[in-house]
Amino acid sequence: MRSLDEFAGEKLKALDQAQLRRAPVVTARAGIWVERDGRRLLSFSCNDYLNLSQHPDVIAAALDATARYGVGAGASRLVTGNHPLYTGLEARLARLKGSEAACVFGSGYLANTGIIPALVGADDLILVDELSHACIHAGAKLSGAAIQLYRHADMVHAEQLLGAHRARKKRALIATDGVFSMDGDLAPLDALAQLAQRFDAWLLADDAHGLGVVGGGRGSSFANGNAGVEVPLQMGTLSKAVGAYGGYLCASRTVVELMQTRARTYIYSTGLPPGVIAAATAALNVIEREPAYAAEPLRKARLFARALNLPEAQSAIVPVIVGDTDAALQASELLRDEGFLVVAIRPPTVPADTARLRFAFTAQHPDADIERLAAIVRMRVLRN
Ligand SMILES: Cc1ncc(COP(=O)(O)O)c(C=O)c1O
Repeated sequence: MRSLDEFAGEKLKALDQAQLRRAPVVTARAGIWVERDGRRLLSFSCNDYLNLSQHPDVIAAALDATARYGVGAGASRLVTGNHPLYTGLEARLARLKGSEAACVFGSGYLANTGIIPALVGADDLILVDELSHACIHAGAKLSGAAIQLYRHADMVHAEQLLGAHRARKKRALIATDGVFSMDGDLAPLDALAQLAQRFDAWLLADDAHGLGVVGGGRGSSFANGNAGVEVPLQMGTLSKAVGAYGGYLCASRTVVELMQTRARTYIYSTGLPPGVIAAATAALNVIEREPAYAAEPLRKARLFARALNLPEAQSAIVPVIVGDTDAALQASELLRDEGFLVVAIRPPTVPADTARLRFAFTAQHPDADIERLAAIVRMRVLRN
């Protein structure tokens, strides 16, 4: 169809002009190394924080389950895709998070776009931290609830919005990243839990980047100790530190049962491949067994941040904000020429004028490479 291609072509041209066009680059990963365009680079752009995607136990579990049960799940979980391996994975997740129950979705994106509309709708209010991940925003839009964005981590603003809008709405949900994916900071979950209590709202924290890395591996609601913050909806993904794939919600048994019968992305999407479920379970075993190993990505991130005089890292993610999109792309190229892969993150993934290099640290990055990287960033990107 000519009009269709014209539409797509014009959109792409506008994105090209603004330096905002994105396209996937073929990348082969092997541990902390990647191969791109024929070059071997040390990657600081993978969310495999504990390198568990390459762990022998995790790979063995995936191979064994695949050999026994085949590759695909064959149907959605409510039909015949509810493999027995899910029981072990969900029990593991609930134990790690201290919740009554857990349910696993096809991905983190599918989790948020299923959970949120199953809980709130047209009569309700949803408060969202403005820097939350795209799938929280998508879930909020899909729900049809009235959306109020509060300024990033600004509890005064969140309180004002609840004061102004809560009384007119039936139910209220507060949704935030636990660790912000492009900034690496932690949400003020304690203060949010108190606000939720005061205004009779439910708190959802997306721990995609917290699980396995902060709070002794238990995630951002445990960042201040084992007692944890009261977060009734602990959502996250199995695709980052867990090194596998899938999303989850840890919550009360009643809420989990509601998801199993109402969350559309749980119901109308095929179950995870058995090999992936087995791999995720094996990875969670490693995380539970080896807390000292789980502490490594944060230690590495802190080493890097200290070398650049940046605020102390709170997670495995350290952003270096460059501002201009062009400058961020050039900085990324400069690092590539030095043997590092650090992908530039541009709007709309981050707000306008905050294009950045996003550094993600993993347990197996050698300290010496981190120090060399920091020296190059200091001298050639930040120029100080
Ligand atoms: C905060 C956050 N939530 C959710 C997701 C989506 O998870 P998944 O990749 O499993 O779909 C991501 C990243 O992709 C994320 O950074």
